[in-house]
Amino acid sequence: EQIEKGGYEHFMLKEIHEQPKAITDTYRGRLLRNEAIIKMAGVEDNMKKFLNANRIIIVACGTSWHAGLVAEYIFEDLSRIPVEVEYASEFRYRNPIIDENDIVIAISQSGETADTLAAIKLAKSKGAFVFGVCNVVGSSIARETHAGAYTHAGPEIGVASTKAFTTQITVLTLMALRLARAKGTISSSEFRQHLLELEMIPNKVEKALEADAHIREIADLYKDSRNCLYLGRGYNFPVALEGALKLKEISYIHAEGYPAAEMKHGPIALIDENMPIVVIATKKGHYEKVVSNIQEIKSRKGKIIGIVTEGDEQVRALADHVIEVPETLESLSPLLTTIPLQLLSYHIAVLLGKNVDQPRNLAKSVTVE
Ligand code: G6P
Repeated sequence: EQIEKGGYEHFMLKEIHEQPKAITDTYRGRLLRNEAIIKMAGVEDNMKKFLNANRIIIVACGTSWHAGLVAEYIFEDLSRIPVEVEYASEFRYRNPIIDENDIVIAISQSGETADTLAAIKLAKSKGAFVFGVCNVVGSSIARETHAGAYTHAGPEIGVASTKAFTTQITVLTLMALRLARAKGTISSSEFRQHLLELEMIPNKVEKALEADAHIREIADLYKDSRNCLYLGRGYNFPVALEGALKLKEISYIHAEGYPAAEMKHGPIALIDENMPIVVIATKKGHYEKVVSNIQEIKSRKGKIIGIVTEGDEQVRALADHVIEVPETLESLSPLLTTIPLQLLSYHIAVLLGKNVDQPRNLAKSVTVE
């Protein structure tokens, strides 16, 4: 097992550090920047269906559901296709209105999650076209779907999903861009810019990982907190949910993710000097609005950990701590802002002496309802 961990103390840490390679592996052969095209067989072969679809319904569980929420922003923003994101467990039991003009995208790392599999079978029975985004090759979901695209994250052992999440977002981004080009909803220069920026993501993830020691120091300061809030807007709202989930899963600290603007409808009542609040406040993406949310937190003495764009000064002046990530397009920012949140939960769990790779009560693959 020590050999499999490749010198890292835990699988989770190894998998966090594997993300630059995993993301590269996922777009390799699909993103052809010189030719300015994206090639994905599962999409090409079914292009007509995608172009005629009334809407896309994404079904998934856990972290994969969060990747689906990020995809909702990407598909609607770039490809202008209406998207709904559903917990597979809810979808399957609520007699959903769905027909042959709908496309269902099922996202699953393991490809074995029982609720997701059942949601796929239901969607198929109603005539929908079902596309799978799985990591495990030949898994049940990969076999049950009409077509699909694999993430090439490699085996993920840690129960808390890390590289599977960022590679799911990578695949879904490629799909959204491919469809956007086919539909003409983005210009060729925007398309090229996305390809260029996407290719730079692995290096930027590498850069984001350099904050590791700094994040460990922050983790040490907040490891004894009872609660933690995560806030983000737009593309980074689902990242806030995922950050909170990571903390819950492995450190057993209660955490909630919220859209930053919803804070005033409830969570603000919880804020006092004992409440750490992680705020994703990168430059592109409602920055000024997030800054005013940060001011509201500060005036209530909450402890602010800002996830900011390199060189940021405004949030730095207000926050108790800032963690920098490189600049990128807003639509690609979740691939970077996720990284410090993974490391923060990892270090807190390690400092608390928790079993990081196999947290209590959780399973890597949930094959029962
Ligand atoms: C379990 C795992 C999570 C995962 C979820 C969905 O709860 O612990 O990490 O996100 O299942 O799994 P899937 O394999 O369908 O992505």
